[in-house]
Amino acid sequence: MSAERGTRRSWLRILALVALALVAVLAIFALWARAPTIAAIERPDPASFDRSEVVRGAALARIGNCASCHSVAGGRVYAGGTPIETPFGTIFGSNITPDPETGIGAWSYEAFARSMREGVGRDGSHLYPAFPYDRLRHTSDADLRALYAFLMTRDAVRAEPPANALIPPLGWRPVLAGWKLLALPRTGPQAPQPQLGALWERGRYLGEGLAHCASCHSPRGLLQQEVREQAYAGGWSDGWYAPPLDASSPAVREWTAERLYAYLRTGLSTAHAAAAGPMGPVTHNLARAPERDVRALATYYAWTMREARAARSEPVLPDRGAVAARAHPAGAALFRGACAACHEPGAPMMVAGRPDLRLGSPLHQDNPRDTVQIILQGLEPPVEPNGPYMPAYADTLTDTQIAAVTAYMRARWGSGPEWGDLEKAVADARAESGE
Ligand code: HEC
Ligand code: HEC
Ligand code: HEC
Repeated sequence: MSAERGTRRSWLRILALVALALVAVLAIFALWARAPTIAAIERPDPASFDRSEVVRGAALARIGNCASCHSVAGGRVYAGGTPIETPFGTIFGSNITPDPETGIGAWSYEAFARSMREGVGRDGSHLYPAFPYDRLRHTSDADLRALYAFLMTRDAVRAEPPANALIPPLGWRPVLAGWKLLALPRTGPQAPQPQLGALWERGRYLGEGLAHCASCHSPRGLLQQEVREQAYAGGWSDGWYAPPLDASSPAVREWTAERLYAYLRTGLSTAHAAAAGPMGPVTHNLARAPERDVRALATYYAWTMREARAARSEPVLPDRGAVAARAHPAGAALFRGACAACHEPGAPMMVAGRPDLRLGSPLHQDNPRDTVQIILQGLEPPVEPNGPYMPAYADTLTDTQIAAVTAYMRARWGSGPEWGDLEKAVADARAESGE
């Protein structure tokens, strides 16, 4: 009996020692992981900022898509509270208005620049990479100063975003120091390529940095880091698929700089399709950015897709209506009833300039996600209120029905093999976008 108690006691002692050692390691780690606090300042007088710098900052904030992650529908712009879903839980965009307590009113320029470059808050705590500082960090000092001037001259809004809901131990911010060590790329400035022209250089500077196009359009690794070696090979955003912007682009019409400019500026390329899902707000913001900067982005991304199949040839696109209807009768019937008024070639509602379903990339992708998402969620006019609109069918069509119409459209207008298990694809799309 007493021997047994002795063994138990020594086990307890070992456990206690291990626990103590763990606590010590965590404490040392937390100390090592902590960045210094930058002293609070009085909110700078908005009149102290140069007007032209504020205007420049406003344009840069649109290119950086800041409002998308720092505003909620119906809420005050930049006041935060925007839920961002990650595989590890939900992170909320911060209040970046100059309210001294709940926003960044007490942040000096140094604190702001450190947050954008290193992902560290004013108080020294690490920020989650849902804030794409891995890309925003490439922004020049002059541009960061303009962004700071712009944000500090907004109305201060008192609003505390909800607390993040992350799986343990990720709620503990020092863990992020480890993430940065493992996953934050240490790339320096890129070598100039004067032979490609000033517009290309400008497009690369904005696209690879502030506009962070690769954050959505690239695959992510186990630590949710962007896989830099596969930049623009296609990625996932909020339950949507952001298709490749490189040689593997699924587009069947070439993304020329002109077409890209129209798409980024108006949310619609008549040679392709409309910008749906998370791409909608990107175009909404770029519609109000300086024209030359949007031309620069278009020039650069036409270049990243210069070897795509559509750049080599633009095939005559088939309409396999009869074959598709025989293979998918239920889908064909649904399409006639619910979709044909807008999508049947020659239909009365096919107003001039509406691209037909063959042209967009969704039906030519190797996964059905964007086709399914647009049926579930519809399309809000990306830029102008009278722009392209499609109703959402998430509440009116079942998974089976959406699967049937998707299979029919792929067979009629798409390219590549039939998509497998479409009902599961619809269920997954619903789950990943919180439908
Ligand atoms: C893809 C979403 C996303 C975009 C785009 C984005 N942010 Fe954020 N940002 C976040 C999230 C999420 C946080 C909070 C991170 C955390 O709590 O660790 C954050 C935090 C910040 C912070 C730190 C605030 C604080 O109180 O800690 C600043 C400053 C900031 N963002 C500025 C910007 C600016 C300026 C832009 C545009 C150039 C921008 N962000 C674009 C998601 C985004
Ligand atoms: C927040 C995530 C996100 C960001 C940031 C983003 N995109 Fe997208 N993008 C998407 C998604 C999702 C789609 C697919 C939407 C659809 O099918 O309508 C898309 C579609 C596109 C397409 C259409 C491609 C095709 O073949 O159909 C182009 C071109 C594009 N994006 C370019 C850009 C550029 C350039 C930037 C940077 C200025 C950018 N995107 C930033 C998510 C994003
Ligand atoms: C009120 C008109 C309207 C109705 C009804 C409608 N759509 Fe659309 N749909 C649009 C518009 C506008 C677009 C965006 C422009 C474009 O790509 O044609 C679009 C885009 C799409 C796209 C993406 C096209 C691409 O290439 O990016 C798919 C897929 C689609 N619709 C499927 C359907 C299906 C399936 C139905 C019926 C269940 C349907 N739509 C009903 C107007 C409509």
